[in-house]
Amino acid sequence: MLDILPSLLAADLMDMGSGIERLLAAGADGLHVDVMDGHFVPNLSFGPALCTALRKRFPYTYQDVHLMLSQPERYIDTFAKAGADAITIHAECEGDVSGMLLHIRDLHLKAGLSLKPGTPVEAIADKLFMCDLILIMTVEPGFGGQKFMPDMTQKIRLLRSLGFQGKIMTDGGVNAETAVPCVEAGADALVMGTALFGSDDPAAVIDRIHALEKNI
Ligand code: DX5
Ligand code: ZN
Repeated sequence: MLDILPSLLAADLMDMGSGIERLLAAGADGLHVDVMDGHFVPNLSFGPALCTALRKRFPYTYQDVHLMLSQPERYIDTFAKAGADAITIHAECEGDVSGMLLHIRDLHLKAGLSLKPGTPVEAIADKLFMCDLILIMTVEPGFGGQKFMPDMTQKIRLLRSLGFQGKIMTDGGVNAETAVPCVEAGADALVMGTALFGSDDPAAVIDRIHALEKNI
């Protein structure tokens, strides 16, 4: 089953709680929390306090935390404690990527590895066995509302051809149209910001994507 994870970056910050309630009622499977340090990417966003607040208000909702940090190692334990269910680090970060992935699993969380558009799958081929999910960036990380990069779906096919059986997620510019090549290529989770928080009828968007899955 395809997981649909709203990216909180696109939420109305003055009304985030009710925006989330609306998307969970519409059929979203969890929440994607984008964490930015202003160094790995040229933007700042949320910190662990958001995960703590989410865990309090939505105790049973899956939290998928995407660390766009130069030094994620410094924050993994903090996000685990704050309520993350999955923590994704970037292949391009500083430090011992394998050590961090194993540490995330030691904390009994799902370990994810993300690729920026310019990073090939080959760069992480030796780490796939340590990963529960791979997050393919379909835009340059840093900002919501950008245009989907269709060539990135080749990475999904390559990952599947290498035998990766974990979750493959796409992130950036995903909507009901651009979801099609993602799912066709073998993605089984979609991060969607603008396309869900900006929609008048998110349930229709989610239903359309699940219908698509049945036809592939
Ligand atoms: C980009 C983030 C994405 C992004 C998705 O750095 O990782 O999660 O906000 O938002 P949309 O769907 O609006 O591109
Ligand atoms: Zn993200």
